[in-house]
Amino acid sequence: KQRVLSGIQPTGDSYHLGNYLGAVRQWVGLQDDYDAFYFIPDLHSITIPGWDPKELRERVYRGAAQLLAAGIDPQRSVMFLQSHVPEHAELGWVMQCITGDGEARRMTQFKDKSAKQGQDNTTAGLYAYPMLMAADILLYRPQLVPVGEDQRQHLELARNLAQRFNSRFKKTFVVPEPKILPNSAKIFDLQDPSAKMSKSGSNPKGLINLLDDPKTTAKRIKSAVTDNDGEIRFDPENKPGVSNLLVIQSELTDTPIDTLVERYQASGAQYGALKGDTADAVEAFVVPFRDKFEEFLADRAELERILDDGARRAREVAGPVLAQTYERLGLVAPK
Ligand code: TYM
Repeated sequence: KQRVLSGIQPTGDSYHLGNYLGAVRQWVGLQDDYDAFYFIPDLHSITIPGWDPKELRERVYRGAAQLLAAGIDPQRSVMFLQSHVPEHAELGWVMQCITGDGEARRMTQFKDKSAKQGQDNTTAGLYAYPMLMAADILLYRPQLVPVGEDQRQHLELARNLAQRFNSRFKKTFVVPEPKILPNSAKIFDLQDPSAKMSKSGSNPKGLINLLDDPKTTAKRIKSAVTDNDGEIRFDPENKPGVSNLLVIQSELTDTPIDTLVERYQASGAQYGALKGDTADAVEAFVVPFRDKFEEFLADRAELERILDDGARRAREVAGPVLAQTYERLGLVAPK
């Protein structure tokens, strides 16, 4: 079996629809045919200063419970916390030592975030973030890394670092391919369909949180920004708002976009119908999602057991890869 690996940060108290449609939904689908590793990069979430320790702990549990609610099955997949597997931080250091300063500074997420926060609030950890992410991936030698479009550049760095290490030392790492879905790689903000949906968007109404009250969710879909030509067709460039709603509905109902468009055009439907149907599709997903989430979150002992088991299975893979890496670098092994 080929291997897949991916991670999702424990942000806020809920994941959003972009996280689900761009990433987690494909993870669920890959569990049968791949040897799957999914983790919560909790060490990445301390790269931005100002978190509250109690809240962080809560977010991590909520993150894990949401992955389970979305359909990650700990029997079939290895699900774990990054901080439980010390090899991530250790290989992260090695990755920093084979990355050029210029290369690291070209990372657009680093540039954007550091510009937004200002130098005084930008940590060296934020700068090192992509190298830790490369370590997260390379430790497991996955062939595929399913992510949304915004992670493409980080993946490219991981590929470059794998190739660099392999040619400078000895073939050690698999050069991973990103797996980015054609339609839902980038779900857009409902209020500003030129921006990706994100926790840090300018208007909360642009965001669909998976754990929001379904009434709020429906309202947000119904007040999504569209355009005024009135025609329902898929044209992301000229009709980003309408196309975003079509993608969301198509993914959640497993109906091809073309089929949806034909149906609307045949019935002469207006945007109101598109929004209503999309809101229904979102509701049909979030209502059971929330129930399952509550159930998983309530059984903390079981969550901890799942994460412990995942960390143990992850270390079985990561430990030997790190040892081999150290050896190839010329570090002396402990006796
Ligand atoms: P994170 O936690 O920001 O996002 C998790 C996943 O959600 C995807 N995503 C989206 N997809 C489509 N539309 C959107 N609007 C949208 N917003 C987010 C992201 O692309 C991602 O796949 N650096 C990573 C976490 C990470 C990681 C890794 C991922 C750390 N180590 C190793 C893969 C492999 C991040 O911050 O994703």
